[in-house]
Amino acid sequence: MLFLDSSDAAEAREIFSWGIVSGITTNPLILSREAGGQDLEPRIREVIKASRGSVSVELVHETETEMLAEAATYHSWDPERVCIKVPFSETGLKVLHQLAKRGVSTNMTCMMNFNQAYLAALAGATYVSLFSGRIRDMGYDARPIVRETRAILDRESLASQIIIGSIRHLMDVNEALQDGAHIVTVPPPILRKMLWNPRTESTIEEFNTAWRNRSRS
Ligand code: E4P
Repeated sequence: MLFLDSSDAAEAREIFSWGIVSGITTNPLILSREAGGQDLEPRIREVIKASRGSVSVELVHETETEMLAEAATYHSWDPERVCIKVPFSETGLKVLHQLAKRGVSTNMTCMMNFNQAYLAALAGATYVSLFSGRIRDMGYDARPIVRETRAILDRESLASQIIIGSIRHLMDVNEALQDGAHIVTVPPPILRKMLWNPRTESTIEEFNTAWRNRSRS
């Protein structure tokens, strides 16, 4: 499956109308770039309205008490749709585990390796997010991490689904899906690149020109 990696409601409305995305992920960096001075709640409510499926909203506090309070606020905006994105850490695991036990949808995020993803799955994460572009920035190959994570989730019948984020190129999407990601979360410019093929365009142009210029005799 594909998710949209954006907090832009207009983009979401357009791209969800293509019928190809099943959820949406935001993060504090995306929101700080795209939301300007807008408060988080109206921004997320717009995104919820413009999309379908799971809407990941990330915690920005760092203590257990504050994170649980923040999670309760986001969850109240739409308990059916909001997925609490919890940054990976020891405290993050504790917070996620408590949310998971209450049946709250969770997305453990900012993960860079197999160990973290496995721990998040054991703690009960609905989604485990591995950041392919950032893994590659450090000089590591993201592909075996995705394959190994998928293998252990399947082998131990863990319910978590792998989301691959930090997508920089079109091939990152293809490789993640081939390697066993359940979901890839893709920024709008890269989704648009998935539409485009020069041979498709020239073929359509050839067909339509032929039809317009057909002989009527
Ligand atoms: C995924 O959930 C994250 O929001 C995102 O993909 C992070 O990507 P970046 O490395 O481009 O910041």
